[in-house]
Amino acid sequence: MGLVTGACFAKLGNTVICTDSDKTKIKALKKGDVPIYEPMLKGIIRKYRRMKRLIFVDTIEEAIKSAKVIFICVGTPSRENGEADLSNIEKVCHEIARHMHSYKLIVEKSTVPVQTGEWVKDTIRFFRKKKVKFDIACNPEFLREGSAIKDFMRPDRVVIGVETKKAKKLMLKLYKPLKAPMSITTIKGAEIVKHAANAFLATKISFINEISNICEATGADVVEVARGIGMDKRISENFFNAGIGFGGSCFPKDVDAFIHICDKLGHPFRLLEDVKRINIQQKHVFIDKIRRSLNGKIKGKKICVLGLSFKPDTDDMRNAPSLDIIKKLLNEKAVVKAYDPQAMEKAGEELGDKRVKFCEDAYSAARGCDCLAIVTEWNEFKKINLKKIKKLLKRPVIVDGRNIYDPAVMKKSGFMYTGIGRRI
Ligand code: UGA
Repeated sequence: MGLVTGACFAKLGNTVICTDSDKTKIKALKKGDVPIYEPMLKGIIRKYRRMKRLIFVDTIEEAIKSAKVIFICVGTPSRENGEADLSNIEKVCHEIARHMHSYKLIVEKSTVPVQTGEWVKDTIRFFRKKKVKFDIACNPEFLREGSAIKDFMRPDRVVIGVETKKAKKLMLKLYKPLKAPMSITTIKGAEIVKHAANAFLATKISFINEISNICEATGADVVEVARGIGMDKRISENFFNAGIGFGGSCFPKDVDAFIHICDKLGHPFRLLEDVKRINIQQKHVFIDKIRRSLNGKIKGKKICVLGLSFKPDTDDMRNAPSLDIIKKLLNEKAVVKAYDPQAMEKAGEELGDKRVKFCEDAYSAARGCDCLAIVTEWNEFKKINLKKIKKLLKRPVIVDGRNIYDPAVMKKSGFMYTGIGRRI
């Protein structure tokens, strides 16, 4: 998120100086290497590095020396109890306080619990060397991995939480070129907007996943049902796909953090606890489908897993449903062959289990398998040569966790096909 934000602000005409505590990343970026896969990002970074509008430096001191606006984009991971761990924010605040010598607008871009802004302000006020003036703002980011540049450059809205006129003016100036709808709130308001927006989207996914189970129990089709519900503009068909549950570095963490902060504030958010429960359950639903497709026995069966990243067009494996699914299959003594267009290296590191055989493409992964499981809906799987796959599989069994195929077509092609909440 930090890298995308930096690159996009450079593209908007600013000079951006980026730094990170991970020096290997800075070293790579200085050479023009981009440590993550994100469509269009590499090109933008190369172009603006060349124009010296995007600069990578080793220390915060260097980064903030001439900067007027400082975006804090550090990670806020979950602690064991679900609470957001703000130690990275704290460290950065100390550094900023120590090194600032002129007015700064310090912007929370990282996702943080409500009231963090107040704490950031107090921390910087306490640790600053001289009485250097500063403002705090909260500017949550809504970009999605895989479409991050597009989301940044063409957002539905930009939310800005501020408490002074100067901060508001500076933030509006920065975002002016985007011509996006602006929502100006208090700092606390913007902090809640971010957590609540992710919690709402996660709720939408768990809602449709629960509906998919009802569809399955009754012979209805969740794709038709989701369409019927979503055609109401107030609900919308977007982001309403049943599947194996949400993953990634944001929803699971933010749902946990929001539950935690609401508890702390004395307003337990029970609905979100159910959203989380349904999300965990959905992975079991998927494993059960695989088991049923193998006549009740996973042990000793060869299973092909297509897709490992938590969603397509990224190599991000953080909280990817594939991790839990593969671990469960291995626990039940299955032989797992896997393929992903981008995430195999990271998946290998995350899983750390030599029993998973990573393959060079979907076809070699399918060869000799008793069942093929679709876990991430990469485009190349939608366009796959199904005739070839059928020949390669030991049994023509497909369990589709992302509903990328049409059940009728699959049946006609001779597959034993199971989707999520689909009418067969
Ligand atoms: C999410 C939000 O969509 C962004 O708006 C937000 O800025 C970001 O978190 C963040 O807080 O930084 P992201 O995690 O990149 O973005 O990915 P999403 O596209 O939201 O997908 C999250 C998960 O939900 C994925 O595992 C995806 O497979 C799942 N999903 C999504 C579904 O199961 N069904 C859907 O209909 C949509």
